[in-house]
Amino acid sequence: MDRELQEKLKEKALEARAHAYAVYSGYTVGAAALGTSGAIYAGCNVENASYGLTMCAERNAVFAAVAAGEKKLRAILIVGPEDGEKPYPCGACRQVLAEFAESPDMPILVVAPDGGCETYTLGDLLPHGFQL
Ligand code: THU
Repeated sequence: MDRELQEKLKEKALEARAHAYAVYSGYTVGAAALGTSGAIYAGCNVENASYGLTMCAERNAVFAAVAAGEKKLRAILIVGPEDGEKPYPCGACRQVLAEFAESPDMPILVVAPDGGCETYTLGDLLPHGFQL
């Protein structure tokens, strides 16, 4: 992915992270999904007093894309808190990404707290994922 696009995704993910509702964990996440149309859909994590109802940033971004009519995704970038662990996507999010990824080679960009960016493919993070 070219640097300009990566920076745009990061900017959108950071904007969304600023709205994260993480009052229980304090772990704020922002995600930006790139649709095949070129549009970008952002999401943040939204927690709930009934912990199991919490929704991850990645899934909120993917679901925003789907709600806008975009069902194939080209990439996703994830940013976590400035002082926390790297925001590798959870298993549930990997499975949801598999549902809407353009291909198993879809890049998943994980932004570290120091600003460094690691790039994986969906296939790296979800080998032998379930499909129907
Ligand atoms: N979280 C995400 O937003 N994405 C993930 O892939 C893993 C976890 C959120 C959920 C919860 O609000 C907080 O991080 C701590 O688990």
